[in-house]
Amino acid sequence: MKLKSLIFALSAAAIISGNAFAQAPIVIKFSHVVANDTPKGKAAERFKELAEKATKGRVKVELYPNSTLYKDKEELEALQLGAVQMLAPSLAKFGPLGVKEFEVFDLPYIFPSKEVLYRVTEGPIGKDLFKKLEPKGITGLAYWDNGFKVMSANKPLHVPADFRGLKMRIQSSKVLDAQMRALGANPQVLAFSEVYQALQTGVVDGTENPPSNLYTQKMHEVQKHVTVSDHGYLGYAVIVNKKFWDGLPADIRSALEGAMKDSTKYANAIAQQENDAALAAVQKTGKTTIYRLNDKEKAEWRKALVPVQKQMEDRIGKELIASVNKEAAALGQK
Ligand code: LMR
Repeated sequence: MKLKSLIFALSAAAIISGNAFAQAPIVIKFSHVVANDTPKGKAAERFKELAEKATKGRVKVELYPNSTLYKDKEELEALQLGAVQMLAPSLAKFGPLGVKEFEVFDLPYIFPSKEVLYRVTEGPIGKDLFKKLEPKGITGLAYWDNGFKVMSANKPLHVPADFRGLKMRIQSSKVLDAQMRALGANPQVLAFSEVYQALQTGVVDGTENPPSNLYTQKMHEVQKHVTVSDHGYLGYAVIVNKKFWDGLPADIRSALEGAMKDSTKYANAIAQQENDAALAAVQKTGKTTIYRLNDKEKAEWRKALVPVQKQMEDRIGKELIASVNKEAAALGQK
């Protein structure tokens, strides 16, 4: 067949078969470990909706919540290998990747308020931290809020002495390890998907998380006491495989950036109310006692835990810790 007739035949075939030459959508596999009904789960759903709309279906976002595809440690490896394209791990999970500076977010009492947190995540400190991910083949897109953590166990936790000897589940962060040790507890790193069972079977005695995670994983069913201590923070970095991201057509990438910006606003707007609602729901079950520290107890907790900031200077960087504290001071909160 001559070239001209070949082209003709191919075009005719394309017309007849409709979308024979239509491009397959770009697939973004977005894996995470929490339930859909949480700040992160809802924000991921919002991103999917906005991203698919903004790219007119040229991008398809596949969500894999609740560790259905990968657990904590595996998901970061999968992202680097390109088996998934997007994740939103908690900021406490970047240590094993070799980016220990993210553990600054885990320091007890480092954020006196969400205002200070946002100055950090939306300002130069947040940007600088993202730069540290690039050599690992990862691009940071946004920070998503969750909330301040509560502590839980099957005994009341009012003062640091109550933690003595308790096995407490933590995320894979050396700062959280130091925090639990400062309270006299024995920290134990476990993947998020394993926490419920570990609490149920007594592998660990207690844990910490924002109420939305506690409630949606039903941890309150196996924890009789929850203390609202606001001793530490848990939030997320939305990250992508850098090679994948850089290789996207520019118009697609900018549409996705827009979708990310809007879903980030949404995530940050719902986080507090989701956690308040989760705590109220736990209380409503009547099975778990919710305790709020009084001023004297708060002072005892601070006395035990604030030294962890100094203790972790070598690991995280004295300047970084000081720069976060400076943001608090700028708002008159230090
Ligand atoms: C945890 O492991 O406790 C949290 O990081 C889970 C999450 O992603 O919120």
